[in-house]
Amino acid sequence: MYIKGVGMTKFGISDKYSWQLAYQATVDALKDADMKFNDIDAVVCTSLEWFFSIEKQRHFASMLSSMFQTNKPIVRVPAACAGGGTALWTANQLDYDNVLVVGVEKLMTCKSESITDEFMMAMESRWEQNEGINAPSSAALVADEYLRKFPDTTTDDFDLIAYKSHENGYLNPHAKFYGKKVSIEQIKNSKIVASPLRLMHCSVSVDGAAATILTKDKSDINIIGSDMCTDRMSPFEREDPLVWEATSISSKGALKQAGLGPSDIDFVEIHDAFSIVELISYEDLGFAKKGEGAKLVRDGTVNLDGKMPINSSGGLKAKGHPPSATGLSQIYEIVKQLRGEAGDRQISQANIGLAHNIGGVGGQVACNILKKTRG
Ligand code: COA
Repeated sequence: MYIKGVGMTKFGISDKYSWQLAYQATVDALKDADMKFNDIDAVVCTSLEWFFSIEKQRHFASMLSSMFQTNKPIVRVPAACAGGGTALWTANQLDYDNVLVVGVEKLMTCKSESITDEFMMAMESRWEQNEGINAPSSAALVADEYLRKFPDTTTDDFDLIAYKSHENGYLNPHAKFYGKKVSIEQIKNSKIVASPLRLMHCSVSVDGAAATILTKDKSDINIIGSDMCTDRMSPFEREDPLVWEATSISSKGALKQAGLGPSDIDFVEIHDAFSIVELISYEDLGFAKKGEGAKLVRDGTVNLDGKMPINSSGGLKAKGHPPSATGLSQIYEIVKQLRGEAGDRQISQANIGLAHNIGGVGGQVACNILKKTRG
């Protein structure tokens, strides 16, 4: 299918209800597509509904029906932090002319401790949860193992990854850290969250919503590859915790549909939940050999003016991470880049972009490849 419109809210702390955020992103996308809600045939929505305890609302699909006064089919596809990418993949399988995909998360009314607990629900209940291993500490174990196995890589490389994301987020009006400069010293001196990962090596949780409108009519942005797959919940249940197969399998699947190889991709939005996750994703997506991902950030390949810019939006690190909206905000960024509408962070060679969205610690991954069709 093609993409006709995109919309998103500013990511950060919002005093709006979650459904108001979803409404705003949807209206933005409809306006962008020059469509009315009545033109939509079906909706795929995604949310983990963490706002339940505050808003006492756990039927997002029906809320959308009330807001838009519709009886059209609306299905909710929650998939941990991969909700957005998975909802897009789902919508792309449907036999409707026009499908709205909308994702929202509202978590900043909760304290970090509760947010951490919620993220832990996407982790192994028998081992990880029992041992108190949360998302940052699970990523830290992977980082430890990576640094042990590939001693040429150091935490300085994690710093460079985070620095690059903040440089990009500084330029993105929708990003939590828009207009806020972060120095490499601030990153190096930030507090340890789970050794070796510091605060600045972690994504930042935010409130936010994003929406995309898919259409069968030819439009300027084509989805040329879309794949999704799952894996064992814990990286330590897998053959090699440093290879996240859900990323390699889904990216290979999407590339195969598109008839492309990794080097044909111009730019990427990677699910950088933690700097180590961005690093191993360079490798699992086929952009570097295992153990050599750091080269891409050291030589500037992944910078905004590099050969393959990564996370021009600022990524989960600097734009922010409202779990179910994240994957669709990646689509928003890619569409803006392909159309040449990304303002100060515009990439010069933007013809084909890949969105990589992870749920849990690699337990589910959706990869979607978009191409500009006319220009
Ligand atoms: N990067 C940069 N700044 C951050 C940040 C991050 N990752 N996390 C929080 N901050 C900032 C906040 O904006 C806030 O700044 P302010 O005082 O100027 O508003 C300040 O640090 C304190 O925020 P707070 O939420 O109290 O921090 P915290 O110490 O409770 O939480 C983390 C920090 C890193 C533990 C938390 O952000 C976290 O758990 N991140 C990872 C989320 C996660 O697991 N995602 C799952 C991915 S699968």
